[in-house]
Amino acid sequence: MVDFNVTKIREDFPILKRTVNGRPLVYMDNAATSQKPQAVIDAIAHYYAHTNANIHRGVHALSQEATEAFENARRKVQSFFNIQAPEEVIFTAGTTQGINTVAHGYRSILDPGDEIIVSEAEHHANIVPWQMLCDLVGTSLKVIPMTKDGPLDQEVYRQLLSERTKIVVVNHVSNALGTINPIKDMIDRAHKVGAIVLIDGAQSSSHIPTDLRGLDVDFYVTSAHKMCGPTGVGMLYGKKHLLEALPPYQGGGEMIKEVTFDATTYAELPHKLEAGTPNIAGVIAFGAAIDYLQNIGIAAIGRYEHELLVYATEALKAIPGLTIYGDGPDKTAVLSFNVSGVHPYDIGTLLDQMGIAVRTGHHCAQPIMDFYQIPGTIRASLAFYNTKEEIDIFINGLKRAASMLST
Ligand code: ALA
Repeated sequence: MVDFNVTKIREDFPILKRTVNGRPLVYMDNAATSQKPQAVIDAIAHYYAHTNANIHRGVHALSQEATEAFENARRKVQSFFNIQAPEEVIFTAGTTQGINTVAHGYRSILDPGDEIIVSEAEHHANIVPWQMLCDLVGTSLKVIPMTKDGPLDQEVYRQLLSERTKIVVVNHVSNALGTINPIKDMIDRAHKVGAIVLIDGAQSSSHIPTDLRGLDVDFYVTSAHKMCGPTGVGMLYGKKHLLEALPPYQGGGEMIKEVTFDATTYAELPHKLEAGTPNIAGVIAFGAAIDYLQNIGIAAIGRYEHELLVYATEALKAIPGLTIYGDGPDKTAVLSFNVSGVHPYDIGTLLDQMGIAVRTGHHCAQPIMDFYQIPGTIRASLAFYNTKEEIDIFINGLKRAASMLST
């Protein structure tokens, strides 16, 4: 294994010490949400115990401290993703809200006949808001198909791009399969026809170093809770001129310059797109999660997780009747599979009895399941605090569950 002190890292995560159904927890549902290190839990408790106040509003000391901590988290996000200006970081409730903010805004920017390109391998959150937009505006949705082992068909993508294409939306990494898309190339191709690109980074931002300026991407969305941070917080990045042109998704306090009953003018970025009191503790804890991840290093995390992926893939392939979906060369440590003749839910339930947490079902990506003509998969998604020993426990548990269910 690469030099990676996973024993020490595991001590940072209190939940990893607990048992489930009388067995030590083996948590392999990291694509659904990651676990939280003590530093993130402490950041939330510290905020409420010492700083709690509303931001950007009060003249008093607590409000100023809370504002400073909140804006400091914005600068951490800015630096982590190599973003040019802090006002290009919009705090959201998560990836879904980030996508909806952009899709909603484009209602008044797109024209009937314009086209949006989406991939077959998206999470529903990166399909449905665009369908809603198409229904309202009369734009049409073009779909990049998948190929057998998960990668998108880049030849078809090239053919779909035209001067009618206005937006391309694609994930960096598929939540259901772990497939990594060649987003730099896809962004460059979209720009050549004048389209903008939104990347869903929910499944990549804690596994692959992400340089948004280097990618030259137009919009990027992710969630803190997939990055060891709290739920209910995410970030939308947009190039400044695009965010300035984007009508606000929500009206409310803090996003205005002036309100009268005749007309309202909007505040400058980022406030224009952050209506209402945000999840202040959550944003501050997102900053703590970024500090934590940066301290270990995303590149080191990616290398270690890749070793876990190779180890687990080999072990899974040795199980008779097991099919791995999305077994392409370029992927994160997500293992989506089925065992012949056995329902994924039954395997998941038996694994849970052994303290092993995996997700089963369509993973909010029904088009991927349709592509493989299956109702769902068992998905084990690994993180940097998982170990080879845990993979051994998972593989043994899986073999037991499969043999119990197939007799
Ligand atoms: N999108 C999350 C998952 O893939 C919830 O499980």
